[in-house]
Amino acid sequence: MNQFTSVNDVQDINQLIKDALALKESPYAHQYLGKNKTLGLVFLNPSLRTRLSTQKAALNLGMNVMVMNMDKEGWALETQDGVVMNGTTVEHIREAAAVMGQYCDILGLRSFPKLVNRDEDYNEDFFNKFIKYCNVPVVSLESAARHPLQSLADLITIRETWKGAAKPKVVLAWAPHIKALPQAVPNSFAEWMSKAQSLGMLDFTISQPKGYELSEEFTPGAHITHDLDEALTGADYIYVKNWSSYKEYGKVLTYPEGWMLNNEKLKITNDAKVMHCLPVRRDLELSSEILDGPNSLVIHEAGNRLWAAQAVLKQMLEQL
Ligand code: CP
Repeated sequence: MNQFTSVNDVQDINQLIKDALALKESPYAHQYLGKNKTLGLVFLNPSLRTRLSTQKAALNLGMNVMVMNMDKEGWALETQDGVVMNGTTVEHIREAAAVMGQYCDILGLRSFPKLVNRDEDYNEDFFNKFIKYCNVPVVSLESAARHPLQSLADLITIRETWKGAAKPKVVLAWAPHIKALPQAVPNSFAEWMSKAQSLGMLDFTISQPKGYELSEEFTPGAHITHDLDEALTGADYIYVKNWSSYKEYGKVLTYPEGWMLNNEKLKITNDAKVMHCLPVRRDLELSSEILDGPNSLVIHEAGNRLWAAQAVLKQMLEQL
């Protein structure tokens, strides 16, 4: 694996999950693999889980780690070619990425969308330029349109906790929020679950109010409904997440009442486990009674971010 930006970069999902669960059993089994290798983590946006879990994953593999909060500590970056840099930008992505590639064997990058111009965000212009100019393997720490380390951790969590004989019914359920959030997490979750469904691992449903449909590029084979109760009926896993509109790009639209998951709604599920990538706004996006109750998997899921990152870094180190 020489880059990890989407499920399409993974040769064998089952093997990657197996690797992650083996690392969870024996975190230090490969503690010399990363000796004298350096991981650079570059953040243009805030993070708790991604930052700490990826750093810990690299340390478990014996790597050195450097973290750069580019938005606060770096020079203002220019991404456009052919411009005279006589404005506020100080350094071009061509030089900045190339220089970071000189210091690091693997780089991680987080760069959120601006949610203004859909094509600009979904073309992943900044991300792709970073990959092109740094000249070392790159791990996505969340891009404009995807968050693959999160989705891998989510799939690991489902694989690890599912004890049923039949395939689990997994539901991605839109939830309310006051801010316009990116589609990266639900896009990525949908992409990974659609892939898992195509491999016979689970059945996948998405529910959202009208106007919040995700780009079809990420949802092949998913059952899609505007009826939350229909989606929840018989569900084994509910992945709760807010996202802003893709169609009316970046907008928060009006929606009917009843989209926040609570214990009453859980009654129509198959005693479903509830997941969320975190951070979560309590009693707006997801009820406290669920977060604090026995059906919540959110902390377990966040814990698995470590093993997802370690499995990906291990595969990358093996190919250096
Ligand atoms: N889920 C997630 O990516 O968390 P952070 O934004 O805190 O890294």
